[in-house]
Amino acid sequence: MSTFIYKADPARGQEWAKVFARERADVDFRIWPDIGDPAQVRYLAAWEPPEDIAQRFPNLQVVFSTGAGVDQFNLKSVPEHMPLVRMIEPGIVEGMVEYAVFSVLALHRDMPAYRRQQAQSNWSPIQVRLAQERRVGVLGLGSLGQAVLARLRSFGFDCAGWSRSQRSIDGVTCYAGQAELNAFLARTDILLCLLPLTDETRGMLDARLFNALPRGAGLVHAGRGQQLNHADLLAALDSGQIGDAILDVTHPEPLPADNPLWRHPRVWITPHIASMTRPDTAAMAVLDNMRRHENGEPVIGLVDRAKGY
Ligand code: GLV
Repeated sequence: MSTFIYKADPARGQEWAKVFARERADVDFRIWPDIGDPAQVRYLAAWEPPEDIAQRFPNLQVVFSTGAGVDQFNLKSVPEHMPLVRMIEPGIVEGMVEYAVFSVLALHRDMPAYRRQQAQSNWSPIQVRLAQERRVGVLGLGSLGQAVLARLRSFGFDCAGWSRSQRSIDGVTCYAGQAELNAFLARTDILLCLLPLTDETRGMLDARLFNALPRGAGLVHAGRGQQLNHADLLAALDSGQIGDAILDVTHPEPLPADNPLWRHPRVWITPHIASMTRPDTAAMAVLDNMRRHENGEPVIGLVDRAKGY
């Protein structure tokens, strides 16, 4: 019997266990640290995998990330020949769509400004703009970015997207690569970052990028904390270059209590909750990929090591 090891939040692991018991009684599903016979382990799903996986599990075949991102993985600890698979599942996608729509609408309808006005008992209407008059730009056009853009389009927003390599998405103006980044930023009133963390995206949300946006642009950050330069954001907020920022990710996490972002009047912070892997749908996505692997078909969400995501 082959063993599947789950190494992430144990309470959620119990939900995975139920799905596996129902769908794959032939697989011995175990929750870390209860690994059984290491030689039987064929599959590992982890948020943070153990360092020595190749030695510890000599017959391991596939490694799954329980999250959408794999930046928390040391890619060198997963042998080159072994497929490493990102989590793409409807629970994560829907969560991100909700958070993105909420945040973009909040900025579009001036909610941060009204919160500030309310604190001063100040009744001052701001001119309402239609969604079609607001240019939204999404950094990152993978499965999350595409789902978010489809929903934002349904409100009528003028939508664009930027990614590393060229994409074509119905109704979305697509920009690609470093050469087109400034043109994308120049037409973006509300910027939403959904990029994976790589060497290229680390520190990317900095003064240079903020200055390429129209003055007073809004920022929604649901990528990874290390992409954002805190000092540059604070300066851009104070100068008015960035109007308001909604941050779901910071570096470090949790954000230390004395970090000035907590108290900045133009910043909303949520504790990395934009989207969470849903145990039942995630387990089904993993089971589907196991079946694909067993049948020699391509898995969905295979990490490209050269790209790092
Ligand atoms: C959360 O940020 C994830 O990667 O799923």
